[in-house]
Amino acid sequence: MTALKNDRFLRALAGEKVDMTPVWMMRQAGRYLPEYRATRKVAGDFMSLCRNTELACEVTMQPLRRYAMDAAILFSDILTIPDAMGQGLYFSEGEGPRFRKVVRTEKDVEQLPELNTAKDLGYVTDAVSAIRRELNGSVPLIGFSGSPWTLATYMIEGSGSKDFRNAKAFMFNQPEAMHLLLDKLARGVIDYLNAQIAAGAQAVQIFDTWGGVLSTHAYREFSLAYMQKIVAGLTKEADGRKVPVILFTKNGGLWLEDIAASGCDAVGLDWTIDIGTARARIGNKVALQGNMDPTILYSSPSSIRAEVDRILRDYGQGSGHVFNLGHGITPDVDPANVAVFVESVHELSQQYHQG
Ligand code: CP3
Repeated sequence: MTALKNDRFLRALAGEKVDMTPVWMMRQAGRYLPEYRATRKVAGDFMSLCRNTELACEVTMQPLRRYAMDAAILFSDILTIPDAMGQGLYFSEGEGPRFRKVVRTEKDVEQLPELNTAKDLGYVTDAVSAIRRELNGSVPLIGFSGSPWTLATYMIEGSGSKDFRNAKAFMFNQPEAMHLLLDKLARGVIDYLNAQIAAGAQAVQIFDTWGGVLSTHAYREFSLAYMQKIVAGLTKEADGRKVPVILFTKNGGLWLEDIAASGCDAVGLDWTIDIGTARARIGNKVALQGNMDPTILYSSPSSIRAEVDRILRDYGQGSGHVFNLGHGITPDVDPANVAVFVESVHELSQQYHQG
């Protein structure tokens, strides 16, 4: 494999010295880019775009052509796993993801097949290999998966949800069946992420988008425990380099110490927590990723720059920080504001990496 030309992202995750703070954005390939919308049109719909190796590779590259991002992220979705387990994923315009089948009983859980990545998710690993070839060592490639709890919420609700009443009722009423489901998903996620690593992913991120809707006790038992199991089961090294694991629980600010103790290499932060406080709490154990409020990208270039400056100042001197948004970029952001964001991170962070 070609040596990496820009390894700032991997160096920062390892706490090694960098010349400036690396930056990428969750959902960096997405609807705010006109070229993304055009490619999705060619594919027909979102899932067909994910399944088309050449077009998935194309949209992954699009943000990198416009901006000096320090990492690429595989273009796919977290819901490929339940889809491959036979739940029948579809996207209806303006309504978000939906499943044809839902999981509501212990029998439903028992009847769910084990995930077979090689057989059913070859389109994802094919995309990973194609993107690695296309990147040609320019920046590292991030693979990803949803957390078992987050995947389970979609499988039980059958769609997104405001209050997660079905998923939580399932957890409270049938905790054993819930554990069976989460365990099956954790095994699937390990297999899936290891296949992505084997195909060329150089870091992986676990998206626990809905862990933050749980009580502290339930978070530990039903979300974190399974992410911990996943971290323990992942391939540690590829191409002679460590494959870092980033764990992102949206609204996880209350539980930073627990998350940092999971064995992950970095903790993703949403925008609700002050990154200086997060560093004081867990910065000696793990790297931090985040955490600008994505809606700041709707504001002016000067306020975007000021917010980047504030976050860099809060984090302070030295490595161990990967700049990102606190959640995915939203569809109608002006692409010019993203350029301001990325350039501000690179320019304003240099003073924190001298000496
Ligand atoms: O970050 C990246 O650029 C990588 C690609 C990526 C997508 N989804 C592409 C996508 C990643 C990492 C995801 C993760 C994902 N998907 C999560 C976890 C992270 C988060 O944002 O909280 C979740 C909960 C999903 C499920 C999902 N997929 C939702 C809620 C939606 C949005 C539906 C809508 O209409 O708003 C999707 C679709 C999706 N996934 C899009 C993209 C670019 C938009 C689809 C389109 O083109 O219309």
